[in-house]
Amino acid sequence: MGQIVAGYAISHSSMMVSQPELVEPEVRGRCYAALERVREEIAALAPDCLVVVGGDHFNNFFYDLYPQWCVGRAEEYSGWADNIPMYKATGDPILSNHIISSLLEQGFEPAFSNEMKLDHAFFGPLHFVTPKMDIPIVPVFQNTITYPLATLKRSLALGEALANAIASSPDDKRIVIIGSGGLSHWLGGPEHGRLNPEFDHEFMRRFAANDREWLTSFTDDEIIELAGNGGHEIRNWLTVRGALGNAPAESIYYDPLYPWYVGAGISHIEPETVA
Ligand SMILES: [Fe+2]
Repeated sequence: MGQIVAGYAISHSSMMVSQPELVEPEVRGRCYAALERVREEIAALAPDCLVVVGGDHFNNFFYDLYPQWCVGRAEEYSGWADNIPMYKATGDPILSNHIISSLLEQGFEPAFSNEMKLDHAFFGPLHFVTPKMDIPIVPVFQNTITYPLATLKRSLALGEALANAIASSPDDKRIVIIGSGGLSHWLGGPEHGRLNPEFDHEFMRRFAANDREWLTSFTDDEIIELAGNGGHEIRNWLTVRGALGNAPAESIYYDPLYPWYVGAGISHIEPETVA
């Protein structure tokens, strides 16, 4: 039986990796220190696998066929695009197949892929928190970028289903689940570069308090108004929230990183019981 030993929600920006000089040293130092803390915590937990929930920025999935969800089940994954290192990470196809089957039993019908590539939504956070890429991953793609989008409640429910899948896996694997994306950011268009720290602080507070009703209360139009088009990525936070039950979250970090175009937050959820 598998076990989730920690959950993290981590904002991403490709420029966090590729253009550190855009943010003044003191500010970027706070961000990198928080990511380093996550790296140390994950190293200490020594998980067997990372389940990483992330999106795509029209680098891998296109309109020939756009899934709401896609679970990777490759032996190995390659990084792709965004001017970050073209990493490779080992997969865990046995766990992937179990997760896919379990999701199907629970009423989710994800696509699956042996060849999906992973852009900075995945390798951005991993660049910092597992820089050696020495822990196998199961990537779970979630549409956070193009309409129509699944509801926030569905993203939360996906997390609950992933937790059930991990708990019912035949191996005794220790799993860290990471959700990548958010918080507020406006990309492209007349408000490019805008952030909303007020929304981000409130979101992290409600995330910490496990206020699921509030967290899932927004329509897509309300997300656009409050958190911008990049704000749809809060779905990946909700999936982590759903996977960790009622455990409170700890807000590790927040800064509105305007030069990197992201309201950047990091939260950690320790499960209520870890064997
Ligand atoms: Fe993104």
